Amino acid sequence: MAKLAVNGGTPVREGKAFPRWPIYGEAEKEALMRVLADENWGINSVEIDAFEKEFAAYQQCRYAVTMCNGSVTLRNAILACGVESGDEVIVPPYTFLATVTGVLEANCVPVFADIDPETFNLDPAAIERAITPRTKVIIPVHIGGNPAEMDGIMAVARKHGLKVIEDAAHAVGAEYKGRRVGSIGDIGSFSFQSSKNLCCGEGGAIVTNDEDLFIRCWSVHNCGRDLTGAWYEHNQLGGNYRLGAFAAALLRAQMKKLEGEIALRDRNARRLIEKLADVPGVSPLKVPETTTRHAWHLFVMRYDKTAFDGLDRAVWLKALQAEGLPLYAGYDTPHYRHKFMLNKSFYSFDGWRKSNPDLDYGKIHLPCAEKAAYEQSCWLPQNVMLGSDRDIDDVADAFRKVYENRSELK
Ligand SMILES: Cc1ncc(COP(=O)(O)O)c(C=O)c1O
Repeated sequence: MAKLAVNGGTPVREGKAFPRWPIYGEAEKEALMRVLADENWGINSVEIDAFEKEFAAYQQCRYAVTMCNGSVTLRNAILACGVESGDEVIVPPYTFLATVTGVLEANCVPVFADIDPETFNLDPAAIERAITPRTKVIIPVHIGGNPAEMDGIMAVARKHGLKVIEDAAHAVGAEYKGRRVGSIGDIGSFSFQSSKNLCCGEGGAIVTNDEDLFIRCWSVHNCGRDLTGAWYEHNQLGGNYRLGAFAAALLRAQMKKLEGEIALRDRNARRLIEKLADVPGVSPLKVPETTTRHAWHLFVMRYDKTAFDGLDRAVWLKALQAEGLPLYAGYDTPHYRHKFMLNKSFYSFDGWRKSNPDLDYGKIHLPCAEKAAYEQSCWLPQNVMLGSDRDIDDVADAFRKVYENRSELK
């Protein structure tokens, strides 16, 4: 009789749900009602200003500018760095697409550098190899909430006079050598989209310690206005990328729970790492000593098909999903392999023509990113890490069960 749920056996988690996300309570309801009762639902609301101050302080920065999502924060941060059409920006191929599209929408050229096979974060040595005279910015992404190797990245950036924008969409509250992410590079970029550890549906923010960059980011997100200028005075190009007051108030309420949630995710993630230590075929990504606090937005692992006689990852994932795990491959395509990248279907963003008319993403091969995307990557979302000890033990049991009954998957 079949043991695996995918073949009709009993799932490890039958009728049991992991904690829901997002979580809300009286504080969120009160926050929304507070804004509703106020006549300022937009930029003039005290909520936005208050959240920006609270969030900047939380991420150990002097300034924050909230925006409507964590994609435009990247685009606007790049513009604020003073790039010109055709400048190159170094990005990882293993990330959410916004890290790349932000570059294109700033009319710059994404240049891909390979990732570290043990952390899936940008490899500083690969960054250095990708630098050309046209490089202006580096965007490391703190994958899953695990800070990238910032000392190495900052050393390369400073050596070559480049700006660093940390894409910290996964990493609210994470720390590299005791410093909060976003405060190490020139600008940090965050997303508050529904799945994120701090969320309001849709939203984002940049943080910085650099007053000039703050002023530029603020202006570009608010129709090119100046901070002290008149409402109809527009001195630079900019658009309306502002966050609304309801979102800001929600974020303020969510922030009060953040520390407790970070501690719980960390406790559970450590428990899961321990439980998976002797389960063949799956290994959690390395957490370097420099990670003094992991945000665990994603619990990212590597699937090892050799432990399963070469079994395709998709089949293995399906078996684990049938056992009740919300386990996904995640980023399964290096971004230089998307059709629109190969065809350079970039609308009117043609900065690449100026700097590299022969640009051909089809020629790029980055072995670590390709192995991660096509073969190894799999992750559990952060709400699983908010579960009980029993929930975490079930996760480990499901991995073990699928391994022990792997012959059923042939
Ligand atoms: C690494 C990364 N960067 C940027 C973003 C974009 O954020 P948003 O969805 O708020 O636009 C995301 C969102 O998933 C992300 O994961």
